[in-house]
Amino acid sequence: MTLFIIGIGLNDEKDVTVKGLETIRSCDEAYMENYTSLISCSVSDLEKFYEKKITVVDRKFVEQTDTLVTAARNKKIALLVIGDPFGATTHIDLMLRCKKGNVGFKIINNASILIAVGITGLQIYKFGKTTSIPYPDKGFRPETSYEVIKQNKILGLHTLLMLDLKPEQNKFMTIAEAIDILLEIESRKKQNVFTEGTFCVGVARIGSDDFAIKSGKASDLLKEDFGAAPHSLIVPGELHFVEEEALKIWK
Ligand SMILES: C[S@@+](CC[C@H](N)C(=O)[O-])C[C@H]1O[C@@H](n2cnc3c(N)ncnc32)[C@H](O)[C@@H]1O
Repeated sequence: MTLFIIGIGLNDEKDVTVKGLETIRSCDEAYMENYTSLISCSVSDLEKFYEKKITVVDRKFVEQTDTLVTAARNKKIALLVIGDPFGATTHIDLMLRCKKGNVGFKIINNASILIAVGITGLQIYKFGKTTSIPYPDKGFRPETSYEVIKQNKILGLHTLLMLDLKPEQNKFMTIAEAIDILLEIESRKKQNVFTEGTFCVGVARIGSDDFAIKSGKASDLLKEDFGAAPHSLIVPGELHFVEEEALKIWK
């Protein structure tokens, strides 16, 4: 049989595609992973609309057990992913395990934050490497995000920074927390890559009716309340005049 990895879109139960919905309904079992992104509706809203019982699973279940691949040997199994299945690198491994285990798999795509940020007016083609900002921990203060901004800036490209989430602790990084982390890295590295004066765009809940987009200096965005998660931060590179004009919509 088959493991269907199905993108359910960015915002609520109605963002699933027709193909995705028909497939979910036809599956023997449906699982949803809760660790790569956040959706604005509840699991019971999804269950009601999809007419399917959903088991919510964590990173350990998906990445460190073979339960899904094994179950898909004899059954039709749906794994629901918020956004698009490939908006996070992690599900490539699942596809590879199906291939190695000779288990059929099918991907059903959907909207992703990687493209939806186009609503800011920044051209998607002008984004460089995407990176994420993890919560710092004891002995863990990664500087990758800072380095990626630096490299993208050299090429004049925009940087999309996805922000960490720890759903098991109900922790979702805010734009202000992300800016604080980048300023803290700047204070150590002093390479003038991300300062209080750096022009940034903060986006929250893109795809929902109450989305928020605000642009300005990092020090100004620090004071803004973007509301509920999920949040992302963008550090624009060189701006085309059309991008500049479009960004004014969100000042
Ligand atoms: C690993 S990415 C996964 C994205 C998802 N699979 C997709 O294709 O959109 C998760 C991060 O993207 C950002 N993100 C996801 N959805 C968002 C939204 N609707 N608005 C703003 N940022 C979002 C947040 O920073 C979140 O922590």
